[in-house]
Amino acid sequence: MQRIGVIGYPLGHTLSPAFQQAAFDALGIEARYEAWETAPDRLAEVVASFRDAGCLGANVTVPHKQAVIPLIDSLEPLAQRTGAVNTIVNREGLLQGHNTDVVGFQRALASTGFDPRDRRALVLGAGGAARAIVVALQDAGAGWIGVHNRTPERAERLVADLSVADDAALVTLPPDGLAEAARDSELLVNCSSVGMQGSGSEGSSPLPPELLPRQALVVDIVYRPAETRLLKDARSRGLQTLGGLPMLVYQGAAAFELWSGRPAPIEVMVSAAERALKGSRS
Ligand code: ATR
Repeated sequence: MQRIGVIGYPLGHTLSPAFQQAAFDALGIEARYEAWETAPDRLAEVVASFRDAGCLGANVTVPHKQAVIPLIDSLEPLAQRTGAVNTIVNREGLLQGHNTDVVGFQRALASTGFDPRDRRALVLGAGGAARAIVVALQDAGAGWIGVHNRTPERAERLVADLSVADDAALVTLPPDGLAEAARDSELLVNCSSVGMQGSGSEGSSPLPPELLPRQALVVDIVYRPAETRLLKDARSRGLQTLGGLPMLVYQGAAAFELWSGRPAPIEVMVSAAERALKGSRS
């Protein structure tokens, strides 16, 4: 029996064990996927244990996505670019770092039929998730990407780190530029934790409803609750919406494929994630 799991702190009601285990079981792979809550002072020791022959690797979540980088052996290009690792693969004792949040977002977006090529996108938030989503949008050919964050310096750092040479299409928004950029955006993505259950801001939206775009796809990467205040506001204005569950499952599916070398059973993973989300609602 191979070992595999997710590390984070705190882990709360993580959905990954439910939908990853369902995928391993569906393909008859003898592996056990667990939640390994890991306090920062134990991170090095826990990551070192992934080198064991019986371990396939791990998913990495908040707050360890950057902290694991010096503890592993190599970084795949997207992990290097985003500066964050959400998946570790154990290749015969050597630990590879990947970022499957990028492809997870791209696949979730593709499932709606929205093509970001040459479109105007507004990203709210500047943490690890925002970095992966900006990279995903750059690679999908977005025409303009504005980043707005509560702490403006963090948005500026994101833009400085992720801008490619001569690219004026990735910018930070000054507070007084938000209203116009929001109304004109064709894709709006909330990458902040505003609205998330347990964050202290559940029921709030990262954007006042009067600033919602006129015509856009509105995406919230928050998946608990399934419909956040932002998505409710957007839906009531007739805008198309997408919640965070598809991105969660697609990033997990890409990780599953790296560990197992087999195509991920997506439908199995989606239904297991939906069941786990319903079952864990408090
Ligand atoms: P992740 O890796 O999941 O993106 P993170 O790095 O903790 O997590 O980032 C959380 C994001 O949510 C940040 O952009 C944060 O803004 P700050 O950089 O100003 O901290 C944003 N965020 C969290 N709570 C917020 C709130 N109450 N209002 C506005 N933004 C908030």
